[in-house]
Amino acid sequence: MARPVGITETLLRDAHQSLLATRLKTADMLEITEYLDRAGFHSLEVWGGATFDASLRFLDEDPWERLRTLRKMLPNSKLQMLLRGQNLVGYRQYPDGVVEAFVQRSIANGIDIIRIFDALNDPRNLECAIRATKKAGGHAQGTVVYTVSPVHDVDGYVELAKTLRDMGADSICIKDMAGLMIPSAAVELITRLKAEVGLPIQLHCHYTSGMASMTYYAAIQAGVDVVDTALSPLAMGTSQPPTESLVAALRSTERESAVDLSVLNKAAEVMRRILADYKVPARTVDTQVLVSQIPGGMLSNLRSQLEQQKLGHKYQEVVEEVPRVRQDLGYPPLVTPMSQIVGVQSLLNVVTGKRYSVKSKELKDYVAGWYGRSPAPIAQELIEAVEGVRITDRPADHLEPMLEKARREIDHCIRQEEDVLTYILYPEVARGFFAKRAARS
Ligand code: CO
Repeated sequence: MARPVGITETLLRDAHQSLLATRLKTADMLEITEYLDRAGFHSLEVWGGATFDASLRFLDEDPWERLRTLRKMLPNSKLQMLLRGQNLVGYRQYPDGVVEAFVQRSIANGIDIIRIFDALNDPRNLECAIRATKKAGGHAQGTVVYTVSPVHDVDGYVELAKTLRDMGADSICIKDMAGLMIPSAAVELITRLKAEVGLPIQLHCHYTSGMASMTYYAAIQAGVDVVDTALSPLAMGTSQPPTESLVAALRSTERESAVDLSVLNKAAEVMRRILADYKVPARTVDTQVLVSQIPGGMLSNLRSQLEQQKLGHKYQEVVEEVPRVRQDLGYPPLVTPMSQIVGVQSLLNVVTGKRYSVKSKELKDYVAGWYGRSPAPIAQELIEAVEGVRITDRPADHLEPMLEKARREIDHCIRQEEDVLTYILYPEVARGFFAKRAARS
């Protein structure tokens, strides 16, 4: 009995976030939207994650305008975005009023599916965004962040998926941002989720370690509903497995996808020409990630931060410090913002030569409970070293409303309701962007 696997194409979001530091311009995206729109994808991931920050900060593009343009040019596609739970597309927690408004405007501007995750897998950080997505008429995809540690297991992932289902999630995504999932683990996890959760299951793996295509094939045999791939010009390396290869591999099987390979080939040809103007890195297989668990993006960030400080020779030491810091912090999955917190602290520990002699503000906040519940207890020495109050309840419950205050602050430059949200997320960058926008017109 045929049961086609759905495919989410990530080229317009995760693929260029992973390989091009999120720098793909909207104008270049529009060169292939015609093909992507009729290729037969389950959905297209086009927004959220780092794209909001990067388009505003580096490309002088209004992210909301990008979304509206893509919506117009992709009339037949389901558009998907990535949302960091209570952190939205930023790096700190926002009060519920801001989460509700951001989700509402995202859907109003064209998003169909919101993939919601929390770096700590703390369901209290997903609850508000799931509720807001449902209220705005969107599809809420609850996410289980996958990692490997002494405190993470299949039972825990299945329990979390059930919790997200009970919160109202329409589907579940397993997010393997570092490419750590081996095929047999995928079979076990997908089989259990399909049997026990009763929702569509989507798998998101990065190619980093070279395993993702094998893992996808195994997951598809085990009944996964949808997988995420990237068109070949921006596939592999720290991005997703190539779309075309997976589509071809499933031909004439009962899981054959609905995606049209000849349309993909045209899109890939156009994209290859466009990418001649970008610096696409060589896409290699990194087996170090199987030990360090450092995901796509984080390694290159660490390397460039060290090189900027002329400390490139410390790279290996920092890579080795990462798992130690992670253990001290109770094994948080290395995904935004935890990847940054662990990365920066590892860097500080190596550069200062004395572990935790300098602590980032974010690390102190994490230890104090402001990011949510750590997967395992935090090292006692670290708790003692961080003064001040520790909280154990939902962090966002402590936050003051922000919308009205922000609106008053930038009243004079608002041109659309969304500007207030842009300003709340990235105040300084937004001010600069608004000033440039005003000067242009
Ligand atoms: Co990803």
